[in-house]
Amino acid sequence: SAAGALAGRRVLVTSGPTHEPIDPVRYLANRSSGRQGHAIAAAAAAAGASVTLVSGPVAIPDPIGVTTVRVETAREMLAAVEAALPADIAIFAAAVGDWRPATERESKIKKDGEAPAPLALVENPDILATVAGLAQGRPPLVVGFAAETDNVLDHARKKIAKKGCDLIVANDVSPAGGVMGGSRNTVHLIARDGSVETWPTLDKDEVARRLVAHLAGLVAG
Ligand code: C5P
Repeated sequence: SAAGALAGRRVLVTSGPTHEPIDPVRYLANRSSGRQGHAIAAAAAAAGASVTLVSGPVAIPDPIGVTTVRVETAREMLAAVEAALPADIAIFAAAVGDWRPATERESKIKKDGEAPAPLALVENPDILATVAGLAQGRPPLVVGFAAETDNVLDHARKKIAKKGCDLIVANDVSPAGGVMGGSRNTVHLIARDGSVETWPTLDKDEVARRLVAHLAGLVAG
């Protein structure tokens, strides 16, 4: 049993999508449900950790025994993550919007019979890369996720180097898999040395418990 395996540890988890406003009624988002990130936060709490979950807008309840901070945008998520540090383990399961509208219009954009204005986008901060790159206060164990539709392992290996994290949990989110919004997940753990551990298709709750047990082993070791 993993009970107590993270006693006395501080764990930070991000989860869910972000909403990037276009105007007061419209936003850019993605199909993340938050189920995997929320399950990880719950499993870490069940293992005795003190857990802060920074969540984008989701339709699922806050996990029991976890301090949940709700945010909307990537920039708010970064600020909430920075405010939640220090942590022993940081797990970035959120599907952060890579881009946001360059400006948030103050009033609703009208359809006035003219051609629609192009939507200019700017890049959001990379929260995982920011935290993994901290010169001071970097959590000793930084875990990223990689949702890929093709060449899952290749992309994950590149991502681990680019983001500077210690471990990547890669999953295949091609539509045939039904992972986005679904209850099951097939994941591969890719370590910094390139080694891969592939798990069978499991409920997201079971993926969460196994991941927490795996991370507890790494911080203890
Ligand atoms: O680059 P990509 O979005 O595929 O990377 C996914 C990983 O990076 C996930 O762990 C996600 O939570 C994190 N991420 C982030 N901030 C972003 C983009 C991704 O924390 N702006």
